[in-house]
Amino acid sequence: MTAHVAVIGTGYVGLTTGAYLAHLGHHVVCADVIEEKVALLNDGEVPFFEAGLHEMVHEGIAGGRLRFVLGAATAVPGAEFVFLCLPTPQSEDGSADLSYIEGVAAEIGPHLEAEAVVITKSTVPVGTTTKVARLLARDDVFVVANPEFLREGSALHDCLHPDRIVIGSDDQEAAMRVASLFEHLEAPLIVTNPASAEAIKYSSNAFLATKVSFINAIAHLCELFGADVRDVALGMGYDKRIGFEFLRPGPGFGGSCFPKDSRALIRMADDVGYDFEVLRGVVDMNERQFAWIADKIAAALRGPLDGKTIAVWGLTFKARTDDLRESPALHVIDHLLERGATIRAFDPMVKHEIDGITVCGDAYAACDGADALAVLTEWDDFRWLDFDKVAEAMATRIVVDARNLLDPTALRRRGFSYDGIGRV
Ligand code: UDX
Repeated sequence: MTAHVAVIGTGYVGLTTGAYLAHLGHHVVCADVIEEKVALLNDGEVPFFEAGLHEMVHEGIAGGRLRFVLGAATAVPGAEFVFLCLPTPQSEDGSADLSYIEGVAAEIGPHLEAEAVVITKSTVPVGTTTKVARLLARDDVFVVANPEFLREGSALHDCLHPDRIVIGSDDQEAAMRVASLFEHLEAPLIVTNPASAEAIKYSSNAFLATKVSFINAIAHLCELFGADVRDVALGMGYDKRIGFEFLRPGPGFGGSCFPKDSRALIRMADDVGYDFEVLRGVVDMNERQFAWIADKIAAALRGPLDGKTIAVWGLTFKARTDDLRESPALHVIDHLLERGATIRAFDPMVKHEIDGITVCGDAYAACDGADALAVLTEWDDFRWLDFDKVAEAMATRIVVDARNLLDPTALRRRGFSYDGIGRV
């Protein structure tokens, strides 16, 4: 089946969705409100780094199945399916701000084809799909929830090989029409009502965030017990009920989803009179983790951070992305700066200036004259550097590896003191 599809919003979710739907053979028109962005996209320029996306956008444009237009109202005429891939930023009170979704729903209402299916794709608070249906003010169209579970860094793989496809609709036929868009993908299909589909997305993100905070707490304990968290996670992971994924300790979770969505779920729970204590603990634990890493660096230096130069490897919220949103590395750096340290940082994906720190051209330059090195993002490249050169560049050979990325034996052989996370 080949369909005419409109995608509103060309952020991470929107652009990836547009590109892979075109790849699946559909005719896709993507809309954004920023004129320059639309022009760049039509030239095949992708404004952020995501492996394979550039090539897939090119493929879509060259095949005549993907184009970009200005404004949602321009994109929807002729579309059988309209995906809403709009941001839901965090408001001051922790709730998700729905103004983009509401604005677009009101805008496209009059322009939709009869029988069109409008689909909420980006994460939206429970109840939004029903709200969109009201705002469209049309009784001849359908509104369906179809949350996206893609991870940055493996977005296209996640879209083309999903663990499951979730469709939330009160109308069975509309649900099946949406399912037919993905007929080439082999994945279990879960058809439910819109509120459940929306809740699946939040619950999944909150559960994964819980796993990360849990293993970070266990890492803390392992240091006190003299245990090794990597072996503990391995031993836990063989239990099929637990699994190996998301049990890597680190400087805390970040990115555009986990922190925002966890807070939004706490807020949504609050709104319906439920105190989501467990999730509050997960978020608090995450914030304490940033300070704990700064404490570990101070402990490795055996003294206050004031006046010390810290080399930082890794700034993005995880490897294989250029995204700095809610990056744990930046939160740790804030703690270090507050305590009077000077930061020299390197990240393979970050070339622009960042307030208050020196962004260096390579990993060795970041170590120049440094009193300690902190590894904050798990870029694989860091493992293969010349550690004799690193040793020479640093004032003192101290490494705090918040991702357990480097080889302690190789470093200790070169006279480094090495402190990982959750291991002795
Ligand atoms: C996440 C979800 O995985 C995805 O399904 C959803 O659609 C969007 O949010 P993403 O934000 O791209 O995706 O990142 P993810 O790979 O899930 O990592 C989130 C954070 O947790 C990162 O900061 C990462 O470093 C951290 N993390 C993850 C750990 O610290 N340890 C782990 O074991 C796994």
